[in-house]
Amino acid sequence: MRIGILTSGGDCQALNAAMRGVVKGLFEYNKDVEIFGFKNGYKGLIYKDYKQMSREDFSGILTRGGTILGSSRQPFKQMRVPDENGLDKVEAMKKTYYDLNLDCIVILGGNGTEKSANLLREEGLNVIHLPKTIDNDIYGTDVTFGFQSAINIATDAIDCIHTTAASHNRVFIVEVMGHKVGWLTLYAGVAGGADIILIPEIPYDIDKVISAIEKRGKEGKGFTILAVAEGAISKEDAKLSKKEYKSKLADRKYPSVSYEIAAAIEKRAGVEVRVTVPGHTQRGGSPCPYDRVLCTRLGAAAAKAIIDRDYGNMIAMVNGETKRVPLSKVAGKLKTVNPKAQMIKEAKMIGISFGD
Ligand code: F6P
Repeated sequence: MRIGILTSGGDCQALNAAMRGVVKGLFEYNKDVEIFGFKNGYKGLIYKDYKQMSREDFSGILTRGGTILGSSRQPFKQMRVPDENGLDKVEAMKKTYYDLNLDCIVILGGNGTEKSANLLREEGLNVIHLPKTIDNDIYGTDVTFGFQSAINIATDAIDCIHTTAASHNRVFIVEVMGHKVGWLTLYAGVAGGADIILIPEIPYDIDKVISAIEKRGKEGKGFTILAVAEGAISKEDAKLSKKEYKSKLADRKYPSVSYEIAAAIEKRAGVEVRVTVPGHTQRGGSPCPYDRVLCTRLGAAAAKAIIDRDYGNMIAMVNGETKRVPLSKVAGKLKTVNPKAQMIKEAKMIGISFGD
């Protein structure tokens, strides 16, 4: 068997753990398997940049963050657009696949990566997708790998801010990753005891945010912590068309939404606000034990799907069981936070404000 493997899109903590799971699983079933690791995501497949890898190459990497193969962002929208030298990328990927006589390519990545994997499936290649992203926004799986590790890091950041915020009686904003969805901000916000949580799925009203801060003041709490997603959006902005909002963002005088919110609070509530952005630390370091277990299971299940020659699937985790989910059913769909979810209601019940 000849199997290709690549990691694409923004990295996360458990990519190596997942690849290790797949490769170990394959070798347990079939000693003669040959592994072709494509470098830097789809780029490696397009430009035939790969290395043949042994079982040992995937040994000792369970705890290592990042990806031993490298990664790159190859936007799905650009896949059908020829490169600067006129190369047809999709045809180039197919050529690499057929030249190497591959049986299947294992593709680890997020939403965009999944769409491209589905495109390759439609083009007749055998693919298996593994759901990676700290954003947890892949439809069809209960959880993505990287998410739990990122929650730990974002929660640590909020925990650290708590002590200094309390000492100085300040309002603090911790900006959590997630441009399109608020899963990470929601979980880290609740885990870190944030008082206000702002996520893209629940547009905020700045008046409500300020009232929540003032309410805490009246209750004798001198400090307030806000967990704000990168993609948090105000109620007014949520009414704009995509195009209008994009152009508004391009003209924004603040580096991100958190600074804009901080300035509004300072101006209108007359309190000091500090912004902390843990940024890419949320994708870094060693995977947490949960992700190591998740990736070992997903990897083993992916290997079994390959052995069964059951291709064209995402290997998902559904109700605690690994499951083969057809890419045709899930590619292109985003899993967002439901503003009416029980968890949101419960957070509100203990006084957390979502600014709505
Ligand atoms: O999709 C993962 C993610 O970390 C998002 O949470 C974040 O908005 C984005 O990638 C950052 O992308 P980049 O690493 O390209 O700056």
